[in-house]
Amino acid sequence: MSKYGGKVAAGTFLFIFVLSFTSYYWKKNTTEYDSRKNKQPKLHDCFHRDQLTGDTITRLKDNYSFIINPYFDNRTRTVIRVISIIHFEKVKGLYCVFCCQNDSDFPIVTAEIDIHADRFGFPYGTADVLCLEPQNCSPKYMSIHPSRDPDFAQLPVFEIKNRHSGEPLLDFTVCISTMFGGFNNVLQFVQSVEMYKILGAQKVVVYKNKCSLLMERVLEHYVSEGMVEIIQWPIDTYLKPSTHWHHSMDPQEIGYYGQIAALNDCIYRNMYRSNYVLLIDTDEIILPLKDADWKSLMERLEGDHPGAGVFLFENHVFRNSVFAATVPFNFSSWRNVPGVNIFQHTFREPNKKGAFNNRKMVVRPEKVVQTSVHSVLKKYEAESVSVSSDVAILHHCRRTERVDVPKEALIQDPVIWKYNASLIANVDRVLHECNCL
Ligand SMILES: *[C@@H]1O[C@H](CO)[C@@H](O)[C@H](O)[C@H]1NC(C)=O
Ligand SMILES: *[C@@H]1O[C@H](CO)[C@@H](O)[C@H](O)[C@H]1NC(C)=O
Ligand SMILES: *[C@@H]1O[C@H](CO)[C@@H](O)[C@H](O)[C@H]1NC(C)=O
Ligand SMILES: *[C@@H]1O[C@H](CO)[C@@H](O)[C@H](O)[C@H]1NC(C)=O
Ligand SMILES: *[C@@H]1O[C@H](CO)[C@@H](O)[C@H](O)[C@H]1NC(C)=O
Repeated sequence: MSKYGGKVAAGTFLFIFVLSFTSYYWKKNTTEYDSRKNKQPKLHDCFHRDQLTGDTITRLKDNYSFIINPYFDNRTRTVIRVISIIHFEKVKGLYCVFCCQNDSDFPIVTAEIDIHADRFGFPYGTADVLCLEPQNCSPKYMSIHPSRDPDFAQLPVFEIKNRHSGEPLLDFTVCISTMFGGFNNVLQFVQSVEMYKILGAQKVVVYKNKCSLLMERVLEHYVSEGMVEIIQWPIDTYLKPSTHWHHSMDPQEIGYYGQIAALNDCIYRNMYRSNYVLLIDTDEIILPLKDADWKSLMERLEGDHPGAGVFLFENHVFRNSVFAATVPFNFSSWRNVPGVNIFQHTFREPNKKGAFNNRKMVVRPEKVVQTSVHSVLKKYEAESVSVSSDVAILHHCRRTERVDVPKEALIQDPVIWKYNASLIANVDRVLHECNCL
């Protein structure tokens, strides 16, 4: 190295040294300045903006309570209904903290904890944490705490939804509770969503835990189209979720990926946005047999049952392991897309007379208080209608459900083929647009 080069190196070194030194001081002072400044933008008065939680699931300090969302609910009394997940015996009390006129006006209200009846043996279940709304307050934000003496600076703050109930803008919203594991049934997902669209869905809400990269691409496409709304559902970072619905089948902390909590959240989230909410899975389609779409199906059903709020559709399993002998819709272009092609599965299991049927539902959300998967647990005076299977069915293309039924006893029923013209074109378009072929 030349003498000159050495000087440059030393100079550069000194320059970098001074630079990093000043930037250290500058950073230190601005952070201090920022943290002072951060105290200024307040939410109403008692809470700070940076306390506002953006997560779908928030753990409280007791470690046994998990908050999903608070919803304003004045259908009978004026309460804030906080959809939560709660340990059925460890949680002794919860308190709602409201922020009203100013920072010395923060009523702390004892919550009523209503754990839903369908807990299926798991220690954690969905709960409604109910707090009477303080008078003359109309809070926009609130917090929840396991004791009466919270440290205000550490409280998680939630925005209270549903205060402003307008006329619903949508007719039909589909709630898909919990997409989990490496979900990669791309073809069937696209076929289902395109069927929902043909039948009248304007929105599909997906509570998403995990899925494959290809599936992400499909979801992104639908989100950009405005069709799908994704709610992140990281239940497994907080609790050990079971892969089954009953504790005896896989004894973990909460049933089936917290499905019931997601369904309840979806009902309240869409209560004043959508006239009807469908609670189904991605392999299920509520299929009208006499009507062209859900709108005319619901007109028919409500004509027969005025004021009804819950409609239950009989589950019919189309075995995805049994293929039709000849399928007119077996496209080479779809062969590289992972997942089930519902056109190929036209063999249906007969339903056992008198046996419990896993019916799925279309509900009027404002009539529902608490929902389970196959029935509504609490509702306002509104009839639950079991829809006859000659009017509409739940088309459920999945693995064998009735192991007692041999292949020979299955019923051939290519009901889905009726939709071939529109469905095939739409599925093709989506698979092209998302670069999935
Ligand atoms: C909750 O869990 C955290 C982290 O594991 C722990 O530090 C804290 O003490 C626990 N709180 C209670 C009330 O058990
Ligand atoms: C409930 O609140 C909404 C909006 O704040 C209001 O329009 C409605 O009249 C209230 N309903 C009852 C029963 O108080
Ligand atoms: C805060 O609001 C409460 C209730 O409206 C009122 O009684 C109290 O005087 C207010 N305090 C201040 C400091 O403005
Ligand atoms: C679909 O087509 C492929 C290739 O022609 C064939 O191997 C497959 O058996 C067909 N499937 C059905 C169910 O017809
Ligand atoms: C395909 O759809 C058309 C038009 O909707 C219908 O006429 C035809 O019968 C369908 N094909 C099959 C095999 O069902």
